[in-house]
Amino acid sequence: MKLAVLPGDGVGPEVTDAAVRVLEAALEHRGLPLDLVTRPVGWAAVQSHGTPLPDPTLEACRQADAVLLGAVGHPGAADAPPHLRPEAGLLGLRRALGCWANLRPVRVPDALLDASALRPERVRGTDLLVVRELGGGLYYGEPRGDDGHRAWNTLTYDRDEVRRIAELAFRLAAQRRGRVTSIDKANVLETSRLWRRVVEEESHAHPDVTLDSMLVDRAAMELVLHPTRFDVILTSNLMGDILSDQAAGLVGSLGALGSASLGGTTDLYEPVHGSAPEIAGTGRANPMGALASVSLMLRTTVDLPAVADDVDAAVEACLGDGIRTDDLAAGGRPPVGTDAFTAAVVERLGGGA
Ligand code: NAD
Ligand code: IPM
Ligand code: MN
Repeated sequence: MKLAVLPGDGVGPEVTDAAVRVLEAALEHRGLPLDLVTRPVGWAAVQSHGTPLPDPTLEACRQADAVLLGAVGHPGAADAPPHLRPEAGLLGLRRALGCWANLRPVRVPDALLDASALRPERVRGTDLLVVRELGGGLYYGEPRGDDGHRAWNTLTYDRDEVRRIAELAFRLAAQRRGRVTSIDKANVLETSRLWRRVVEEESHAHPDVTLDSMLVDRAAMELVLHPTRFDVILTSNLMGDILSDQAAGLVGSLGALGSASLGGTTDLYEPVHGSAPEIAGTGRANPMGALASVSLMLRTTVDLPAVADDVDAAVEACLGDGIRTDDLAAGGRPPVGTDAFTAAVVERLGGGA
Protein backbone atom coordinates (compact mmCIF):
# COMPACT_ATOMS: atom_id res chain seq x y z
CA MET A 1 0.00 0.00 0.00
CA LYS A 2 1.21 3.50 -0.91
CA LEU A 3 0.04 6.04 1.63
CA ALA A 4 0.45 9.81 1.55
CA VAL A 5 0.38 11.29 5.05
CA LEU A 6 -0.53 14.96 5.41
CA PRO A 7 -0.11 15.77 9.12
CA GLY A 8 -1.20 19.43 8.81
CA ASP A 9 -1.55 21.66 11.85
CA GLY A 10 -2.10 21.61 15.61
CA VAL A 11 -2.80 18.09 16.84
CA GLY A 12 -2.74 16.84 13.24
CA PRO A 13 0.92 15.68 13.37
CA GLU A 14 0.36 14.07 16.80
CA VAL A 15 -2.62 11.99 15.70
CA THR A 16 -1.23 11.04 12.27
CA ASP A 17 1.96 9.91 13.98
CA ALA A 18 -0.10 7.66 16.24
CA ALA A 19 -2.09 6.36 13.26
CA VAL A 20 1.05 5.52 11.30
CA ARG A 21 2.54 3.69 14.28
CA VAL A 22 -0.60 1.60 14.63
CA LEU A 23 -0.96 1.01 10.89
CA GLU A 24 2.67 -0.09 10.58
CA ALA A 25 2.31 -2.46 13.52
CA ALA A 26 -0.98 -3.91 12.23
CA LEU A 27 0.42 -4.52 8.74
CA GLU A 28 3.73 -5.85 10.01
CA HIS A 29 1.86 -8.32 12.20
CA ARG A 30 0.44 -9.78 8.99
CA GLY A 31 3.64 -9.41 6.97
CA LEU A 32 2.34 -6.62 4.73
CA PRO A 33 4.57 -3.76 3.52
CA LEU A 34 3.73 -0.04 3.70
CA ASP A 35 5.17 2.66 1.48
CA LEU A 36 4.85 6.10 3.09
CA VAL A 37 5.39 9.70 2.01
CA THR A 38 4.73 12.71 4.24
CA ARG A 39 3.82 16.12 2.80
CA PRO A 40 2.71 19.48 4.24
CA VAL A 41 -0.82 20.90 4.07
CA GLY A 42 -2.69 23.75 5.77
CA TRP A 43 -0.93 26.45 7.75
CA ALA A 44 2.23 24.35 7.92
CA ALA A 45 2.33 24.43 4.11
CA VAL A 46 1.66 28.17 4.03
CA GLN A 47 4.74 28.58 6.24
CA SER A 48 6.97 26.28 4.16
CA HIS A 49 5.61 26.76 0.62
CA GLY A 50 3.46 29.93 0.72
CA THR A 51 0.27 28.01 -0.08
CA PRO A 52 -1.98 25.65 1.92
CA LEU A 53 -1.96 23.00 -0.83
CA PRO A 54 1.44 22.94 -2.58
CA ASP A 55 1.70 21.14 -5.95
CA PRO A 56 4.13 18.49 -4.61
CA THR A 57 1.60 17.64 -1.89
CA LEU A 58 -1.21 17.21 -4.40
CA GLU A 59 1.07 15.21 -6.68
CA ALA A 60 2.02 12.84 -3.83
CA CYS A 61 -1.69 12.36 -3.06
CA ARG A 62 -2.44 11.57 -6.70
CA GLN A 63 0.28 8.92 -6.75
CA ALA A 64 -0.85 7.26 -3.51
CA ASP A 65 -3.50 4.58 -3.00
CA ALA A 66 -4.86 6.58 -0.09
CA VAL A 67 -4.27 9.82 1.80
CA LEU A 68 -4.35 10.23 5.57
CA LEU A 69 -4.82 13.83 6.65
CA GLY A 70 -4.46 14.97 10.28
CA ALA A 71 -6.10 18.38 10.60
CA VAL A 72 -5.71 21.91 9.29
CA GLY A 73 -6.28 25.21 11.01
CA HIS A 74 -4.24 27.69 13.03
CA PRO A 75 -5.08 30.69 15.19
CA GLY A 76 -2.35 32.63 13.34
CA ALA A 77 -4.37 32.33 10.13
CA ALA A 78 -7.36 34.30 11.42
CA ASP A 79 -6.64 37.34 9.22
CA ALA A 80 -5.20 35.49 6.23
CA PRO A 81 -6.87 36.08 2.84
CA PRO A 82 -9.25 33.28 1.78
CA HIS A 83 -6.76 31.54 -0.52
CA LEU A 84 -4.13 31.41 2.24
CA ARG A 85 -6.42 30.00 4.91
CA PRO A 86 -5.39 26.50 6.02
CA GLU A 87 -8.97 25.28 5.47
CA ALA A 88 -8.60 26.22 1.78
CA GLY A 89 -5.91 23.52 1.58
CA LEU A 90 -8.32 20.83 2.74
CA LEU A 91 -11.23 22.05 0.63
CA GLY A 92 -8.91 22.32 -2.37
CA LEU A 93 -7.62 18.79 -1.78
CA ARG A 94 -11.12 17.29 -1.55
CA ARG A 95 -12.04 19.09 -4.73
CA ALA A 96 -8.82 18.26 -6.61
CA LEU A 97 -9.15 14.58 -5.76
CA GLY A 98 -12.87 14.70 -6.56
CA CYS A 99 -13.99 13.27 -3.21
CA TRP A 100 -17.76 13.89 -3.03
CA ALA A 101 -18.83 11.46 -0.30
CA ASN A 102 -17.81 11.72 3.33
CA LEU A 103 -18.66 8.77 5.56
CA ARG A 104 -18.59 9.41 9.31
CA PRO A 105 -19.49 6.40 11.44
CA VAL A 106 -20.64 7.14 14.99
CA ARG A 107 -20.77 4.22 17.39
CA VAL A 108 -21.01 4.36 21.15
CA PRO A 109 -19.28 1.30 22.56
CA ASP A 110 -20.50 0.11 25.96
CA ALA A 111 -17.06 0.89 27.39
CA LEU A 112 -17.64 4.59 26.68
CA LEU A 113 -21.20 4.91 28.00
CA ASP A 114 -20.00 6.98 30.94
CA ALA A 115 -18.25 9.46 28.62
CA SER A 116 -21.34 10.31 26.57
CA ALA A 117 -23.09 13.64 26.93
CA LEU A 118 -26.31 11.62 27.27
CA ARG A 119 -27.59 9.23 29.90
CA PRO A 120 -26.52 5.63 29.23
CA GLU A 121 -30.08 4.33 28.72
CA ARG A 122 -30.64 6.92 26.03
CA VAL A 123 -27.38 6.46 24.12
CA ARG A 124 -26.68 2.74 24.55
CA GLY A 125 -26.53 0.94 21.20
CA THR A 126 -26.07 4.10 19.12
CA ASP A 127 -24.59 3.06 15.78
CA LEU A 128 -25.15 5.45 12.92
CA LEU A 129 -23.39 6.54 9.76
CA VAL A 130 -23.43 10.12 8.54
CA VAL A 131 -23.22 10.21 4.74
CA ARG A 132 -22.28 13.80 4.07
CA GLU A 133 -22.27 15.24 0.55
CA LEU A 134 -18.74 16.65 0.30
CA GLY A 135 -18.22 17.98 -3.20
CA GLY A 136 -20.74 20.77 -3.48
CA GLY A 137 -23.35 22.81 -1.65
CA LEU A 138 -22.68 26.01 0.22
CA TYR A 139 -18.96 25.30 0.53
CA TYR A 140 -18.25 25.73 -3.16
CA GLY A 141 -21.19 27.66 -4.67
CA GLU A 142 -20.52 30.67 -6.86
CA PRO A 143 -20.88 33.60 -6.67
CA ARG A 144 -19.27 34.15 -3.31
CA GLY A 145 -17.58 37.20 -1.94
CA ASP A 146 -17.24 39.99 0.57
CA ASP A 147 -17.13 43.68 -0.38
CA GLY A 148 -16.69 44.86 3.17
CA HIS A 149 -20.38 45.76 3.61
CA ARG A 150 -22.04 42.69 2.26
CA ALA A 151 -20.83 39.12 2.05
CA TRP A 152 -22.48 36.32 0.08
CA ASN A 153 -22.34 32.61 -0.56
CA THR A 154 -24.41 30.49 -2.89
CA LEU A 155 -26.10 27.19 -2.20
CA THR A 156 -26.69 25.03 -5.26
CA TYR A 157 -27.19 21.33 -5.87
CA ASP A 158 -28.00 19.63 -9.13
CA ARG A 159 -29.81 16.34 -9.64
CA ASP A 160 -26.64 14.39 -10.42
CA GLU A 161 -24.86 15.54 -7.27
CA VAL A 162 -27.83 14.53 -5.14
CA ARG A 163 -28.45 11.26 -6.93
CA ARG A 164 -24.91 9.92 -6.55
CA ILE A 165 -24.72 10.59 -2.81
CA ALA A 166 -28.25 9.24 -2.29
CA GLU A 167 -27.43 6.09 -4.22
CA LEU A 168 -24.37 5.53 -2.02
CA ALA A 169 -26.38 6.11 1.16
CA PHE A 170 -29.02 3.55 0.09
CA ARG A 171 -26.36 1.02 -0.83
CA LEU A 172 -24.63 1.43 2.53
CA ALA A 173 -27.94 1.25 4.41
CA ALA A 174 -28.72 -2.05 2.68
CA GLN A 175 -25.56 -3.45 4.29
CA ARG A 176 -26.60 -2.09 7.70
CA ARG A 177 -30.06 -1.85 9.29
CA GLY A 178 -31.81 -0.80 6.07
CA ARG A 179 -32.86 2.70 7.01
CA VAL A 180 -31.96 6.09 5.51
CA THR A 181 -32.93 9.38 7.14
CA SER A 182 -32.40 12.19 4.65
CA ILE A 183 -32.01 15.52 6.41
CA ASP A 184 -32.80 18.83 4.73
CA LYS A 185 -34.59 22.15 5.11
CA ALA A 186 -37.26 21.52 2.48
CA ASN A 187 -39.76 23.84 4.21
CA VAL A 188 -37.57 26.80 3.28
CA LEU A 189 -34.91 26.00 0.67
CA GLU A 190 -35.34 25.18 -3.04
CA THR A 191 -32.10 23.18 -2.94
CA SER A 192 -33.62 21.03 -0.19
CA ARG A 193 -36.84 20.50 -2.16
CA LEU A 194 -34.81 19.27 -5.14
CA TRP A 195 -32.72 17.17 -2.73
CA ARG A 196 -35.87 15.59 -1.27
CA ARG A 197 -37.41 14.84 -4.70
CA VAL A 198 -34.24 13.22 -6.03
CA VAL A 199 -33.69 11.18 -2.85
CA GLU A 200 -37.29 9.95 -3.02
CA GLU A 201 -36.88 9.00 -6.69
CA GLU A 202 -33.65 7.15 -5.90
CA SER A 203 -35.35 5.29 -3.05
CA HIS A 204 -37.54 3.44 -5.59
CA ALA A 205 -34.44 1.63 -6.83
CA HIS A 206 -33.78 0.39 -3.25
CA PRO A 207 -37.00 -1.24 -2.04
CA ASP A 208 -35.06 -3.05 0.70
CA VAL A 209 -34.27 0.28 2.39
CA THR A 210 -36.74 2.47 4.28
CA LEU A 211 -36.48 6.22 3.69
CA ASP A 212 -37.63 9.06 5.94
CA SER A 213 -36.96 12.68 5.20
CA MET A 214 -36.61 14.97 8.18
CA LEU A 215 -36.14 18.70 8.60
CA VAL A 216 -32.72 19.54 9.97
CA ASP A 217 -33.92 21.45 13.03
CA ARG A 218 -36.02 18.52 14.19
CA ALA A 219 -33.20 16.12 13.27
CA ALA A 220 -30.81 18.00 15.58
CA MET A 221 -33.29 17.41 18.40
CA GLU A 222 -33.97 13.75 17.53
CA LEU A 223 -30.25 13.07 17.44
CA VAL A 224 -29.93 13.84 21.14
CA LEU A 225 -33.35 12.50 22.17
CA HIS A 226 -33.42 9.23 20.21
CA PRO A 227 -29.96 8.61 18.75
CA THR A 228 -30.54 4.87 18.37
CA ARG A 229 -33.34 5.49 15.84
CA PHE A 230 -30.82 6.58 13.23
CA ASP A 231 -29.06 4.18 10.90
CA VAL A 232 -27.79 6.10 7.85
CA ILE A 233 -28.09 9.90 7.91
CA LEU A 234 -27.92 11.33 4.39
CA THR A 235 -27.36 15.06 4.19
CA SER A 236 -25.72 18.02 2.48
CA ASN A 237 -22.23 19.36 2.99
CA LEU A 238 -22.86 22.01 5.68
CA MET A 239 -25.63 20.14 7.51
CA GLY A 240 -23.45 17.02 7.58
CA ASP A 241 -20.55 19.01 8.99
CA ILE A 242 -22.68 20.31 11.85
CA LEU A 243 -24.66 17.15 12.61
CA SER A 244 -21.55 14.96 12.71
CA ASP A 245 -19.90 17.16 15.35
CA GLN A 246 -23.15 17.02 17.30
CA ALA A 247 -23.14 13.24 16.95
CA ALA A 248 -19.60 13.22 18.41
CA GLY A 249 -21.20 14.48 21.62
CA LEU A 250 -23.05 11.15 21.78
CA VAL A 251 -19.68 9.40 22.00
CA GLY A 252 -18.22 12.01 24.33
CA SER A 253 -15.51 13.58 22.21
CA LEU A 254 -14.92 14.88 18.73
CA GLY A 255 -11.50 13.25 19.03
CA ALA A 256 -13.07 9.81 18.69
CA LEU A 257 -14.53 9.98 15.18
CA GLY A 258 -12.89 9.08 11.89
CA SER A 259 -14.04 9.54 8.32
CA ALA A 260 -13.56 8.42 4.73
CA SER A 261 -13.83 10.88 1.84
CA LEU A 262 -14.58 8.87 -1.28
CA GLY A 263 -15.69 9.06 -4.88
CA GLY A 264 -12.61 10.67 -6.35
CA THR A 265 -9.34 9.54 -7.88
CA THR A 266 -7.70 8.89 -4.49
CA ASP A 267 -9.51 8.09 -1.24
CA LEU A 268 -8.90 10.55 1.58
CA TYR A 269 -9.12 9.64 5.27
CA GLU A 270 -9.49 12.31 7.91
CA PRO A 271 -10.45 12.40 11.56
CA VAL A 272 -13.61 14.48 11.99
CA HIS A 273 -11.96 16.84 14.47
CA GLY A 274 -9.83 19.88 13.75
CA SER A 275 -6.42 21.09 14.84
CA ALA A 276 -7.55 21.58 18.47
CA PRO A 277 -5.15 24.49 19.07
CA GLU A 278 -5.90 24.61 22.81
CA ILE A 279 -4.34 21.18 23.36
CA ALA A 280 -1.86 21.05 20.45
CA GLY A 281 1.65 20.25 21.65
CA THR A 282 0.52 19.06 25.08
CA GLY A 283 0.57 15.36 24.18
CA ARG A 284 -3.07 14.96 25.20
CA ALA A 285 -4.78 14.59 21.81
CA ASN A 286 -7.01 11.57 21.41
CA PRO A 287 -5.75 9.55 18.43
CA MET A 288 -8.97 7.49 18.16
CA GLY A 289 -10.33 9.56 15.26
CA ALA A 290 -7.15 9.02 13.27
CA LEU A 291 -7.16 5.32 14.18
CA ALA A 292 -10.81 4.99 13.13
CA SER A 293 -9.82 6.63 9.82
CA VAL A 294 -7.04 4.06 9.36
CA SER A 295 -9.53 1.28 10.03
CA LEU A 296 -11.90 2.72 7.41
CA MET A 297 -8.98 2.87 4.97
CA LEU A 298 -8.12 -0.77 5.57
CA ARG A 299 -11.73 -1.77 4.95
CA THR A 300 -12.49 0.51 2.04
CA THR A 301 -9.43 1.29 -0.07
CA VAL A 302 -7.15 -1.66 0.49
CA ASP A 303 -9.71 -4.37 1.26
CA LEU A 304 -7.96 -5.72 4.36
CA PRO A 305 -10.98 -6.05 6.69
CA ALA A 306 -9.14 -8.50 8.94
CA VAL A 307 -6.43 -5.91 9.63
CA ALA A 308 -9.12 -3.26 10.21
CA ASP A 309 -10.76 -5.63 12.70
CA ASP A 310 -7.38 -5.98 14.46
CA VAL A 311 -7.10 -2.20 14.82
CA ASP A 312 -10.70 -1.79 16.03
CA ALA A 313 -10.36 -4.65 18.48
CA ALA A 314 -7.10 -3.25 19.88
CA VAL A 315 -8.71 0.17 20.44
CA GLU A 316 -11.77 -1.40 22.06
CA ALA A 317 -9.55 -3.53 24.28
CA CYS A 318 -7.84 -0.36 25.53
CA LEU A 319 -11.18 1.28 26.26
CA GLY A 320 -12.36 -1.89 27.98
CA ASP A 321 -9.23 -1.74 30.15
CA GLY A 322 -10.05 1.82 31.14
CA ILE A 323 -7.25 3.33 29.05
CA ARG A 324 -8.47 6.67 27.74
CA THR A 325 -7.23 10.12 26.86
CA ASP A 326 -8.59 12.92 29.04
CA ASP A 327 -11.27 14.11 26.59
CA LEU A 328 -13.06 10.82 27.40
CA ALA A 329 -11.99 10.41 31.01
CA ALA A 330 -14.92 9.93 33.38
CA GLY A 331 -13.76 9.40 36.89
CA GLY A 332 -12.11 6.00 36.37
CA ARG A 333 -8.38 5.51 35.93
CA PRO A 334 -6.29 8.64 35.37
CA PRO A 335 -6.14 9.58 31.69
CA VAL A 336 -3.17 8.74 29.49
CA GLY A 337 -1.57 10.86 26.78
CA THR A 338 -1.52 10.30 23.01
CA ASP A 339 1.71 8.38 23.18
CA ALA A 340 0.68 5.99 25.96
CA PHE A 341 -2.71 5.36 24.35
CA THR A 342 -1.00 4.56 21.05
CA ALA A 343 1.51 2.27 22.74
CA ALA A 344 -1.35 0.46 24.47
CA VAL A 345 -3.12 -0.07 21.13
CA VAL A 346 0.07 -1.36 19.50
CA GLU A 347 0.60 -3.72 22.41
CA ARG A 348 -2.89 -5.16 21.96
CA LEU A 349 -2.69 -5.65 18.20
CA GLY A 350 -3.29 -9.16 17.04
CA GLY A 351 -4.38 -10.29 20.48
CA GLY A 352 -0.91 -9.69 21.95
CA ALA A 353 -0.48 -8.63 25.62
P1 NAD B 1 -11.58 21.23 16.90
O1 NAD B 1 -12.08 19.95 16.37
O2 NAD B 1 -10.19 21.57 16.61
O3 NAD B 1 -11.79 21.23 18.49
C1 NAD B 1 -13.10 21.15 19.08
C2 NAD B 1 -12.98 20.65 20.51
O4 NAD B 1 -12.66 19.26 20.49
C3 NAD B 1 -11.88 21.32 21.33
O5 NAD B 1 -12.28 21.36 22.67
C4 NAD B 1 -10.71 20.36 21.15
O6 NAD B 1 -9.77 20.45 22.20
C5 NAD B 1 -11.43 19.02 21.13
N1 NAD B 1 -10.70 18.05 20.32
C6 NAD B 1 -10.62 18.01 18.98
N2 NAD B 1 -9.86 17.01 18.57
C7 NAD B 1 -9.44 16.37 19.68
C8 NAD B 1 -8.62 15.25 19.92
N3 NAD B 1 -8.08 14.54 18.91
N4 NAD B 1 -8.40 14.88 21.20
C9 NAD B 1 -8.95 15.55 22.21
N5 NAD B 1 -9.74 16.62 22.07
C10 NAD B 1 -9.98 17.03 20.80
O7 NAD B 1 -12.57 22.34 16.37
P2 NAD B 1 -12.48 23.96 16.45
O8 NAD B 1 -11.90 24.38 17.73
O9 NAD B 1 -13.82 24.43 16.06
O10 NAD B 1 -11.50 24.34 15.26
C11 NAD B 1 -10.09 24.54 15.42
C12 NAD B 1 -9.45 24.62 14.04
O11 NAD B 1 -9.55 23.34 13.40
C13 NAD B 1 -10.11 25.62 13.10
O12 NAD B 1 -9.06 26.27 12.41
C14 NAD B 1 -10.92 24.75 12.14
O13 NAD B 1 -11.06 25.32 10.86
C15 NAD B 1 -10.07 23.52 12.07
N6 NAD B 1 -10.79 22.29 11.71
C16 NAD B 1 -10.17 21.45 10.83
C17 NAD B 1 -10.73 20.25 10.51
C18 NAD B 1 -9.99 19.34 9.59
O14 NAD B 1 -8.84 19.56 9.29
N7 NAD B 1 -10.59 18.27 9.09
C19 NAD B 1 -11.94 19.86 11.09
C20 NAD B 1 -12.55 20.74 11.99
C21 NAD B 1 -11.97 21.96 12.31
C1 IPM C 1 -14.49 19.02 8.71
C2 IPM C 1 -14.02 20.44 8.87
C3 IPM C 1 -13.87 21.10 7.49
C4 IPM C 1 -15.25 21.15 6.87
C5 IPM C 1 -13.23 22.50 7.52
C6 IPM C 1 -11.93 22.53 8.25
C7 IPM C 1 -13.04 23.01 6.12
O1 IPM C 1 -14.88 21.15 9.71
O2 IPM C 1 -13.83 18.25 8.00
O3 IPM C 1 -15.50 18.66 9.32
O4 IPM C 1 -16.04 22.05 7.18
O5 IPM C 1 -15.54 20.26 6.06
MN1 MN D 1 -16.31 19.88 10.76
